[in-house]
Amino acid sequence: MKHHLHQRFLKAREDFPAIMASQSVYLDSAATSHKPSAVIKAMSDFYETGYATVNRAVYRKALLATDLYNNAREKIARFINASSPSEVIFTKGTTDSINIFADSFSRSFLKPSSRILVSEMEHHSNLIPWQIAAASSGAHLERIPITPEGALSLDALRELLSLGNVTVVAVTHCSNALGTINPISIIAAMAHEYGAYLLVDGAQAAPHIPLDMQALGCDAYAFSAHKMCGPTGIGVLWARESLLDSLPPTRGGGDMIDTVTFSSSTWAELPLKFEPGTPPIAEAIGLGAAVDYLNALSIPAIHEYETELSFYLTSRLLSIPSLQLVGTALPRGPLQSFHIKGAHPLDIATLLDLEGIAVRSGHLCCQPLLARLSLTALTRASLAFYNTFDDIDRCVEALEKVVKKLLYIQIR
Ligand SMILES: Cc1ncc(COP(=O)(O)O)c(C=O)c1O
Repeated sequence: MKHHLHQRFLKAREDFPAIMASQSVYLDSAATSHKPSAVIKAMSDFYETGYATVNRAVYRKALLATDLYNNAREKIARFINASSPSEVIFTKGTTDSINIFADSFSRSFLKPSSRILVSEMEHHSNLIPWQIAAASSGAHLERIPITPEGALSLDALRELLSLGNVTVVAVTHCSNALGTINPISIIAAMAHEYGAYLLVDGAQAAPHIPLDMQALGCDAYAFSAHKMCGPTGIGVLWARESLLDSLPPTRGGGDMIDTVTFSSSTWAELPLKFEPGTPPIAEAIGLGAAVDYLNALSIPAIHEYETELSFYLTSRLLSIPSLQLVGTALPRGPLQSFHIKGAHPLDIATLLDLEGIAVRSGHLCCQPLLARLSLTALTRASLAFYNTFDDIDRCVEALEKVVKKLLYIQIR
């Protein structure tokens, strides 16, 4: 590990009041990340001194609030290298983004003859909206299989595409259960070769990997602020302007219109067409501050440091007898799921909590994946740059103790 990187992230840990105030080790950042003071301050400053509505009023406070809100959108557009801020739609989060996209896409593009391809490793958020779209349009939902290591099978994807009529492919950029990072630009090129659109669930990628919508080549991308040091209640749906222009709004209300008569309406320009109602203003400002914070640390540096931490976690976990890693494909995001024969994940996580270690257990919102792996639950440790090598040592030492206890109880 490069010494300067280690020092930079040890120092960054001090920016997180909740991490500094706790004696416990937090290893559940894939569920939600902690917030740096800069994000908390940006939001409380807005509430304390700048609070007003956006887009519709002419008094100065509202104009300033509108500027802050629009600045946040511009920061996000630069963060993901969108062609224009109009392609950045504010939503409630990844789940909301995918639901909005699938619903609208279904109305414009899906027919009973259409096929929708979704990978076996998807979070329920990138499966259920497609089940709903398939049910309402009559389209067929089909699975893209994974390899035993947990990679998406590109051969199987090509074979499925070559059968024809695939309208949309939906895959995750980084799996929340397996950790696999999927080769999005290759998948995008393949989908486009067969005339299909590609939606990517970026919930687990946005906090960890440099994002470039032009280089990725996908058509739509979804992510949540709360997993990337920002607040809850806001996320992003990015899609190409030409695609957004061809999609209808699925939710109506204030701000998203051009003109309204009693019987019909016309729509506002992008992005407002997809943002009805008073938006999450303070949350957008908080997300903008999170993006500033991550940029100042540098996402490539975060990626390098977290990759080192993650390899250390995996190698330390392997020292525990009878522990099986779940998800070993490369490249990987900073998380590792595992399974220990004879020790239930809920017991492991409960006992680890008593040792001051917070990890996630259960089906991780991936029930079809777990069924495919013949498992009912997993334990997952997930990392962020505010974690340290010491956090991992503490987790593994506690896990050794917990496993001994659980396996001893079982033998008796
Ligand atoms: C891969 C993935 N997709 C989607 C989601 C849903 O994100 P949210 O609950 O913020 O909408 C998550 C959350 O854990 C996730 O890990």
